[in-house]
Amino acid sequence: MTKTHDQKEIIKSSLFQMIAICPEETKDVLAEELRMLGAQSVDPQFKAVHFECDEKLFYEAHLKIRSASRLLRVVKEFAAKDERMLYDQARRVNWGDVLTVKGTFSIEGVPGERGEGVMTSNTISKRVREAMQTWFLDKKGERVLVNLEDPDATFIAFTRGGRCIVSVDTSGKSMHKRGYRSDKHPAPLKETMAASLLMKLGYKGDVPLYDPMCGSGTLAIEAASMALGKAALIHRKKGEFGFERLAFFNSQLWREVQEEARDGKSDELAMPIFASDISAPYIEAARDNALRARVEKFINFSKVDFFESDAPAPTGLIITNVPYGERIKGEFDGDDEMFFKAIGDKLKKSYTGWRAAILVAEASPWKSIGLKPSRKIKLLNGSIEVRLLVFDLYQGSKKGSPEQRALN
Ligand SMILES: C[S@@+](CC[C@H](N)C(=O)[O-])C[C@H]1O[C@@H](n2cnc3c(N)ncnc32)[C@H](O)[C@@H]1O
Repeated sequence: MTKTHDQKEIIKSSLFQMIAICPEETKDVLAEELRMLGAQSVDPQFKAVHFECDEKLFYEAHLKIRSASRLLRVVKEFAAKDERMLYDQARRVNWGDVLTVKGTFSIEGVPGERGEGVMTSNTISKRVREAMQTWFLDKKGERVLVNLEDPDATFIAFTRGGRCIVSVDTSGKSMHKRGYRSDKHPAPLKETMAASLLMKLGYKGDVPLYDPMCGSGTLAIEAASMALGKAALIHRKKGEFGFERLAFFNSQLWREVQEEARDGKSDELAMPIFASDISAPYIEAARDNALRARVEKFINFSKVDFFESDAPAPTGLIITNVPYGERIKGEFDGDDEMFFKAIGDKLKKSYTGWRAAILVAEASPWKSIGLKPSRKIKLLNGSIEVRLLVFDLYQGSKKGSPEQRALN
């Protein structure tokens, strides 16, 4: 809680106070995305980035931000040194600005610290719930009901240092759910993670890109969406964003923002995107996903064993996440060290002039790749500790073609 919005009715202000949630390791790219979009007061915090925006940018952020998992709008921040104060202050929130009278809600209490005297999650949610229900009875003469399954509004009450921030989840489903992926692959990357990796590498669509172990195609699909300037969540269905069920929803402005986003995308790629996998059913699933994301015609899919592959362009960016904890297909089944050694040998033999970014589990014998990474980026893939290893496979001088220079 770096800023103080003491007693201010934030929801009435023309500036929206927002919190974007993300993994701790990718908050740098999220902050950059928000700045590029035009957000103000961008302020990275633990596993989150706080920012301010006007109403139009509020809708644009929901449609376009690639690396956030959730977006929350701050309703009010107030002092809450104990239960009594939490209740009294929560009674003063204008809940009707957020929740419609017939709406249902849930409240998540989140203590931001531990220790003696700190309110528990249950206490926080119970006291805020009571305050809200009393407010609706007093001001509107109506009862509002809790619904844990499918509430119209999900509130988060976060307490730390004697203060409470009440916010409402405006994204609804987690933002990695773009609306294009089926569940035909056992180990897909989250879409938000795939986009964050591409952004960490500075991918802007200006070099050829290749995922040689593409599985369900997430990296290639996210890359195509980025290179075309498509809004990441444009294919979500009506009613899937949290804000669509809230009292302050401006449906007219939301329609305009979606139309602008559709008109603003490009119809062609500057540089090609390739994706292959050793498994024919996975390639089929990846094609179907790309079709639903409406980028299928921009990705060159093929069923190829990476170890038999030819570089699809003289230079470019390989980005892939290698199998982990599942059977490694092909001749290296069961022998992880040989598998990683073969990756290194193949990169040296067939991909000189490329940059390769390989996402590996920290616990795997990735050092057997036998090449020195120029960057090692620590991340979490779900609960697995992983690293994105970047190898620059240039021959001789780094100066070369424009594509090679774009890789630097
Ligand atoms: C962890 S998954 C990739 C998941 C993918 N990033 C996604 O989002 O769905 C690893 C993939 O490597 C593929 N694979 C394993 N050995 C391969 C090889 N020799 N050549 C090409 N693909 C291979 C597997 O079929 C699997 O789909």
